[in-house]
Amino acid sequence: MFTEVLKSEQRIKDDNSEDSLFYLEPRFVNHLDEAFRNRLTKLYEERINRNAVVLDLMSSWVSHLPPGIRYKKVIGHGLNRIELESNKRLDCFWTQDFNSDQKIPLDDSSVDICLMVAAWQYLQYPEKLAFNLKRVVKHNGKLIVSFSNRAFWSKAPRVWTQGSDVDHINYIKSVLIAQGWSNLEYIAEKTKKSGVFSYLNIPGDPFFSVLASNK
Ligand SMILES: C[S@@+](CC[C@H](N)C(=O)[O-])C[C@H]1O[C@@H](n2cnc3c(N)ncnc32)[C@H](O)[C@@H]1O
Repeated sequence: MFTEVLKSEQRIKDDNSEDSLFYLEPRFVNHLDEAFRNRLTKLYEERINRNAVVLDLMSSWVSHLPPGIRYKKVIGHGLNRIELESNKRLDCFWTQDFNSDQKIPLDDSSVDICLMVAAWQYLQYPEKLAFNLKRVVKHNGKLIVSFSNRAFWSKAPRVWTQGSDVDHINYIKSVLIAQGWSNLEYIAEKTKKSGVFSYLNIPGDPFFSVLASNK
């Protein structure tokens, strides 16, 4: 059974209309800048085994996986079918609103590593989802939750909109620990704009990741 961490008022968001309506039209944009995306891809290169079955939860038309590496299988999930159909890294995908239903339609222990990018911030019931993920992710499998300081703020619950970057890290950790995830780690780094801006030392989107194991 999952353990509640949030108070009901922390789950409230400004725009309470169905999330599937917000994601009805595909957005072929990058939600995070190149500096963030490069750092994320480097992390994936270091942490994901080539033989892994990867689950990209709350995905879009991009998964940020290292371009040269083929994994055993990449399963995608999101809210917009057209975006997911355009994602060249996915072998299969499904759509589902996790704020309506947190059950995950995958077999027990069928995933080696689950990735979430710019995603956790929209969850109103993260405890149930994190609990259900433990069933789907293999023993010793991993979860990597990455995010920056941007969001569609009207769609994020108060626990996110009212917290600082450090609060966000601690909040995700507390939910994961409460559901039995272990070996918690986090990364919090500044990034620098790449390309023509690199010599100007302009900051890029800050990079945050919370990593956990299913022990
Ligand atoms: C900012 S986008 C990030 C997409 C992708 N991970 C990336 O890095 O480009 C947020 C994603 O979260 C997913 N999402 C938002 N609200 C959701 C909900 N209630 N249930 C399931 N997925 C949701 C959508 O698939 C949406 O594409």
